[in-house]
Amino acid sequence: MIIAVDGPSGSGKSSTARGVATRLGLRYLDTGATYRAVTWSAVERGLDLDDTAAVAQRARDLELEVSTDPGRQFVVADGTDITAAIREPGISEVVSKIATNLDVRHELIRRQRAIIDDAQETGGIVVEGRDIATVVATDAELKVLLTADQDARMARRGAEVSSLTADQLRDQIVRRDADDSTVSEFQVASDGAVTIDSTDLTLEEVIDVISRLAKETSAQG
Ligand code: DC
Repeated sequence: MIIAVDGPSGSGKSSTARGVATRLGLRYLDTGATYRAVTWSAVERGLDLDDTAAVAQRARDLELEVSTDPGRQFVVADGTDITAAIREPGISEVVSKIATNLDVRHELIRRQRAIIDDAQETGGIVVEGRDIATVVATDAELKVLLTADQDARMARRGAEVSSLTADQLRDQIVRRDADDSTVSEFQVASDGAVTIDSTDLTLEEVIDVISRLAKETSAQG
């Protein structure tokens, strides 16, 4: 079984997707981590991030391991553990430049699909990102689009990055939404997707809803 969880930053999709995977005994893939890993590598090598060909080549050459264990997440790139480094503000600020590079997307989608195929042999996977239902895994049995209003997303991001002021946070969320929306497939509800507005729900409640839908889907299938 493949469960696709798409949504904007701060919608709670990472905690939700990881929680659903743990609850149902499935693997978990954070596709955003793959874009962050390429960004980290390009920055570390001092590449010009506007040089799309050089960055795409880096994406193809990168040796990348992304954990699919929801209980133990790590990312290793060219032998370096970059689990924490890819969450640094310096990476978050420039990652959408890498994520809008179509050759990088092509390469990373290929890798994401290989990870998903492997996981199918062990029962299934919850995949989170922006274009999972629309591009990466259009055959997902369950497609969830997670949304939340801007204030809720700000509060959640704020809890993660306490060093920012409210204005800085709002700017960051608005800017990242605008940057991310330049790739057309982003956050579009695909055919058959269930939209869940998490604004007034707790994390546990969202996990409950998705887990129930997953069980119903597999009972029907
Ligand atoms: O979810 P995140 O903040 O870790 O995502 C990092 C960046 O990667 C962000 O700019 C959106 C982009 N992304 C993407 O383009 N496609 C995905 N499937 C996942 C993330």
